[in-house]
Amino acid sequence: MERLAFLVAFSLVAITAPGAFCAKILFAYPIAVTSHTQVYEPIIEALGQRGHNVTVYAGLAPRREMPPNVNLHISKQLENVLSGDSGPLNNSFQTLRTPLNFKMIFNSFDWPRQWCEEIMQDPVYHNLWNASNDTVFDLVIVSSAFNECVYGLIWRDKLPFVLVSPTGMFPWVGYAIGNPSYVVAAPTLFLSSSSNRMNFMERLSNWAISVIYGAIYYWNSAPKTSNVLRQYFPEFPHPNEVTKNASLYLLNTDISMDYPRPLLPSVKEIGGLHCRSAQPLPEDLESFVTKPGSSGLILFSLGSTVKGVHMPPQFRAVFTEVFRRLPEYQVMVLISRG
Ligand SMILES: *[C@@H]1O[C@H](CO)[C@@H](O)[C@H](O)[C@H]1NC(C)=O
Ligand SMILES: *[C@@H]1O[C@H](CO)[C@@H](O)[C@H](O)[C@H]1NC(C)=O
Ligand SMILES: *[C@@H]1O[C@H](CO)[C@@H](O)[C@H](O)[C@H]1NC(C)=O
Ligand SMILES: *[C@@H]1O[C@H](CO)[C@@H](O)[C@H](O)[C@H]1NC(C)=O
Ligand SMILES: *[C@@H]1O[C@H](CO)[C@@H](O)[C@H](O)[C@H]1NC(C)=O
Repeated sequence: MERLAFLVAFSLVAITAPGAFCAKILFAYPIAVTSHTQVYEPIIEALGQRGHNVTVYAGLAPRREMPPNVNLHISKQLENVLSGDSGPLNNSFQTLRTPLNFKMIFNSFDWPRQWCEEIMQDPVYHNLWNASNDTVFDLVIVSSAFNECVYGLIWRDKLPFVLVSPTGMFPWVGYAIGNPSYVVAAPTLFLSSSSNRMNFMERLSNWAISVIYGAIYYWNSAPKTSNVLRQYFPEFPHPNEVTKNASLYLLNTDISMDYPRPLLPSVKEIGGLHCRSAQPLPEDLESFVTKPGSSGLILFSLGSTVKGVHMPPQFRAVFTEVFRRLPEYQVMVLISRG
């Protein structure tokens, strides 16, 4: 009897002990610019440190050292698309110049189709998808920012999956999972410049933006992605049907920085996960930044997608002129990575 009790207790400990179960996880973000990858990398690192076998499919290689059980499948082909040397992100300064350019917004809904065509012809993805079946991966984690193409694999192999947003909740994902935008008091992601205190007109436009985005996605953008996927998986449904099955949706927001909004129990805010302790600057930068007599530093950067080198000369002249009028400040301009 004692032996049986010991055996039962031992088995229970063995089953429930941390690290006893290591999952095989596919983390896919083929379409993700540098700022997006900063949200995904700490998750991959932590999963790897906990002993999970993580397969990463991405266009940009992680910039931090990953644990040995993280297998990287990085696509050179997609790197060219993401770096803006080809594809829709090429010269995005031109594209993004006017803030309310509806033609540009409408065109951008065709980008997922273009990207999906690239992904479906990517040999790196072919290898993964030829190797995958319902026993190869226990879980897929996929970016919710224009990566519906990966749904083909999730759908074919009936894999459980988690969505992770590089920013807030995408309106169309919210509709699909039953957590629509709270348009009365929470500004919709993209475009809406309102705060949570809106007058009637602001609420109306907040609502309209959310509905228009949802509609364009549902009737225009998503079906185009489906059409690409159907060449390979003829029965593939509308992507929303797959989105609905997401087990969890992680948002890169935090209650302390964002407006309150109701979230389903399956939606979790993980904002700030990427924050790390500050590192000292290299000596040359340190002495530039702390130059005696200077009132401070202005760091000018357009982020990782819009490249300073593409800035039209007339705009460059405006910025140069403004910085010239501020001789008491040190100015640092990031033109382009790489
Ligand atoms: C991790 O998973 C991949 C894909 O299933 C497999 O090829 C590899 O052998 C696994 N590695 C370990 C250490 O289990
Ligand atoms: C990308 O944009 C640059 C600058 O506008 C242009 O010279 C180049 O031909 C474009 N490349 C592609 C592949 O569209
Ligand atoms: C994947 O499998 C298909 C069909 O079996 C084959 O034609 C194709 O060459 C394979 N791709 C790779 C990269 O192995
Ligand atoms: C899934 O693929 C693995 C590796 O390619 C193979 O060993 C296994 O038999 C396959 N399982 C099924 C159910 O097809
Ligand atoms: C959603 O999940 C259910 C239960 O696992 C499955 O039967 C269904 O086929 C899935 N739907 C899609 C579109 O993948």
